Amino acid sequence: MKQFYCGQLDKTFVGREITLFGWVHSRRDHGGVIFIDLRDREGIVQVVFQPEDKSLFEKAEKLRNEFVIKVVGYVRERPLGTENKKIYTGEIEVIVKELEILNSCSILPFDISEYTDVSEELRLKYRYLDIRRDAVYKVLKLRSDLLSITRNFFVKNGFLEIETPMLTKSTPEGARDFLVPSRLNKGTFYALPQSPQLFKQILMVGGIDKYFQVVRCFRDEDLRADRQPEFTQIDFEMSFVEQQDVMSITENLLCDIFEYVTGKRIEIPFLRMDYEEAISKYGTDKPDLRYGLEIVNVTSIFLDTQFKVFRSIIDNKGSINVIVIPEGYIFSRQQIDDYISFVQSCGGNGLAWMKYKENKFESNIVKFFSELELNSLKEKLKLVGNEIIFFSAGEHRKSCELLGLVRQRLAKELGLIKDKNEYKFLWIINFPLFEYSDEEKKIVSVHHPFTMPNYKQLDILETKPLEVKSCAYDIVLNGVELGGGSIRIHDLQLQKKIFSLLKISSEDIENRFGFLLDALSFGAPPHGGLAIGFDRMVAILTGNESIRDVISFPKTQKGICMLSGAPSEVDKKQLIELGLMFKDKK
Ligand code: AMO
Repeated sequence: MKQFYCGQLDKTFVGREITLFGWVHSRRDHGGVIFIDLRDREGIVQVVFQPEDKSLFEKAEKLRNEFVIKVVGYVRERPLGTENKKIYTGEIEVIVKELEILNSCSILPFDISEYTDVSEELRLKYRYLDIRRDAVYKVLKLRSDLLSITRNFFVKNGFLEIETPMLTKSTPEGARDFLVPSRLNKGTFYALPQSPQLFKQILMVGGIDKYFQVVRCFRDEDLRADRQPEFTQIDFEMSFVEQQDVMSITENLLCDIFEYVTGKRIEIPFLRMDYEEAISKYGTDKPDLRYGLEIVNVTSIFLDTQFKVFRSIIDNKGSINVIVIPEGYIFSRQQIDDYISFVQSCGGNGLAWMKYKENKFESNIVKFFSELELNSLKEKLKLVGNEIIFFSAGEHRKSCELLGLVRQRLAKELGLIKDKNEYKFLWIINFPLFEYSDEEKKIVSVHHPFTMPNYKQLDILETKPLEVKSCAYDIVLNGVELGGGSIRIHDLQLQKKIFSLLKISSEDIENRFGFLLDALSFGAPPHGGLAIGFDRMVAILTGNESIRDVISFPKTQKGICMLSGAPSEVDKKQLIELGLMFKDKK
């Protein structure tokens, strides 16, 4: 077994005989001497083969990149002037006296050290080579460290780590389930858990009081940079708590995690913002607060306007919102047109715009507005000169959402995020309990159906369901939804009422959630919890755009594991055993 890693050797080892194992990172032949950069997960050390020992030297001549070797040698200081300040081991080298070639290596599909032009698919196909790279190793090491911090945190706070089933029943978290056919009970399926939601609630009914789990979740949904079909949650649940208690535990956990990475304690408590405010000011329920560019509602200025477009929107109870690009940014007509097309490509009708320059508004719509309207606009937006104003008029939420997208694009293009290491956390609270789904033509839960409605609005639950808020809270970091949770319904009748408002048939309720309802009837304590998307958090902490970069064996956009080739066809025999057959195979 190895005693030391190559990358850990320094001057304190000088004079010692040492055995090293590793991969040949590179080989240089200089003046009859062979230099090998020997690499393991902790770094590189220079090992030297001198010509005096002929058979050793001849063996060394056979070495190629990524051969696996064992060397025995002694550590010495590098001769003056040959030190390499760029690497930790740069002051020493190992003079080899024994070499064992443990394995050779096929022709490499890409060079381990020069991978930048290599496609992601190729890197994922040969992920084991990719993992040999320092950058990938560091991410995996960080994940491991953060999981141990997480476990320590929860154990210190009296939580029990309890595993919940992977072969289970569907949990409604808003995505499709991955199904697993049962051989022993033909014609039936398990679902892989979208989250441990129901089981963690049932653990509370079981009196566990404080549960946590680092858990794999599975969701069959369209994949994006921040979504994988299987991903990891830091999941927890507590009994006899208020919203504030769950938020506080989350904040303290994040403090420990971020302190480990940045060396600084983040400030808690985090800002809390109402869902409605987030939508109105930032056009999203996950605003990035690292920059301003807030949306301003200017509807009140145009209540009597003669400008037909605004008039009809106001008459239809819509609103007029603006975003102001402050002075100091040069913005061409072409760029303005690009933004108009961008909004159209996002499903909007377009953007109206004005420039404010030398005390005057400029643009093709200025002529439709009265002096009073323009002056009020100037005052409300505190214009000083050289600003550009984008107007989005329409149904309030849609109009804000479109400006929210404009805001995000502007931040990128104007370079408004100055400090990549800035972390802006906030809580979004007071979400609506339900929203109307055009697709399903009925109300659906904004979070999941086990979320407690605002206690003070229970009387309007049936009459005005869309006005009811929930006891749910999302944690947002730099524009990313890091996690979400809620206080749950522990009252059987209320849970039944929610299911009926969601128009879930009693047969479906019994089939899908009967076990939860049973449990709620046996003395369920009040409880609540939260889950953090671990991959998303690591991606932010490591400055990666995609969570694929922080997962050991991620899947491509099409859900394919390039390494193993999954998903793949199975033997006919396996299908027969499962009682399955393909009717229509595409
Ligand atoms: P939710 O569905 O909001 O809540 O998920 C919690 C967090 O998990 C992360 N996440 C994902 N990460 C990567 N790929 C995905 N496909 C994906 N989907 C979600 C997000 C998200 O904020 N049971 C509830 C939690 C609770 O109420 O306690 C739940 O799963 O970061």
